[in-house]
Amino acid sequence: MILSIKKTLLLILGLALVIGAIASPHHKSKKPCKKSSKKLTKKNSPPPVPIPTGPKNTCRSFTDKFQNSRIVNQSAYNGDPTSADWIDTCGVPGTYTQSNGLNLNLLKPADQQRTKGDDGYYNKVLGEGFSCNSTYKMLYGSVSMILKANGVGGCVSALVCMSENGDEIDWEMVGKDTKHAQSNYFYDRMLIYGVNGGVHEIPKNGQIDTDFHNYTIDWSPDYIKWYIDGSCVRTLERADTYVNGTYRFPCHPSYVQMGIWDGSGAVGTAQWSNGPIDWTKQPSQLTSTIQQISITCNPDYNQVIN
Ligand SMILES: *[C@@H]1O[C@H](CO)[C@@H](O)[C@H](O)[C@H]1NC(C)=O
Ligand SMILES: *[C@@H]1O[C@H](CO)[C@@H](O)[C@H](O)[C@H]1NC(C)=O
Ligand SMILES: *[C@@H]1O[C@H](CO)[C@@H](O)[C@H](O)[C@H]1NC(C)=O
Ligand SMILES: *[C@@H]1O[C@H](CO)[C@@H](O)[C@H](O)[C@H]1NC(C)=O
Repeated sequence: MILSIKKTLLLILGLALVIGAIASPHHKSKKPCKKSSKKLTKKNSPPPVPIPTGPKNTCRSFTDKFQNSRIVNQSAYNGDPTSADWIDTCGVPGTYTQSNGLNLNLLKPADQQRTKGDDGYYNKVLGEGFSCNSTYKMLYGSVSMILKANGVGGCVSALVCMSENGDEIDWEMVGKDTKHAQSNYFYDRMLIYGVNGGVHEIPKNGQIDTDFHNYTIDWSPDYIKWYIDGSCVRTLERADTYVNGTYRFPCHPSYVQMGIWDGSGAVGTAQWSNGPIDWTKQPSQLTSTIQQISITCNPDYNQVIN
């Protein structure tokens, strides 16, 4: 899903991110997100999101340090969320190992078929990389991933909350741009030009690929906050997403996804991801490591299990 959206949006996404980068402030020290100072007008002041009175989404709050996680191949998954922790939605052998965390591998393709497009290069054959879904969905809550990302341009490491209809909240760590991490969101697979994406400095002069950092998505009915190492780097208010009678704000139960992917598949994506990867100069695999992930479901909107 991550891939197909990225492939379709390509250059547009890249442009949105560039604009987002210009528009988004860079915070340097650990700080909480401030309340929006702007007064809400009647028009965009959102009605409260009702707390469900009937059956709630079942969501699992847990911390996984990947010592012995139950990761099941998608093709072997029996649909019972109690039977596994994660669903391997990639399915390619060798794309992950569990040792001192979860190692996500992007495997070198046999022949990348480097190709010249109209305004740059891309690879016709992509590296296969691990991706997984949580077995339970979350409707509002918080997710923190402790990650050391791969720093090779064209290699993207991601933490995503994604619903079936295409509501999406992202952290993306893009190789080569090792001093920044990117935030993004979509409502119902819709792009809002120049608004969705943000680029954020890693606090304390940190780098995505030399150390582990704590990337958090804090998703509430009224806002999404993105944190790095406890510093709030971005707030999206639901009130500010109102367009033509709809709040274009993620609001559907979402799988938590982790993954590594090859951004080399089209010129636009390759430029955004600092690729294409020149696999002739790389080892047999590129690896990102997740030390742990914690999911905390909002009990107002979920029936929470542990
Ligand atoms: C997942 O299942 C498919 C289909 O049975 C199989 O080809 C693939 O090797 C499996 N992957 C892993 C990682 O076991
Ligand atoms: C994984 O998540 C995506 C996005 O929500 C969903 O479309 C897909 O059906 C999920 N797959 C599994 C096996 O849970
Ligand atoms: C990661 O950051 C979040 C948000 O500040 C915090 O709640 C959480 O405790 C942190 N996790 C770890 C393991 O430090
Ligand atoms: C809002 O609706 C009007 C009328 O249908 C349409 O012309 C306009 O493009 C819409 N605006 C956005 C941002 O979708």
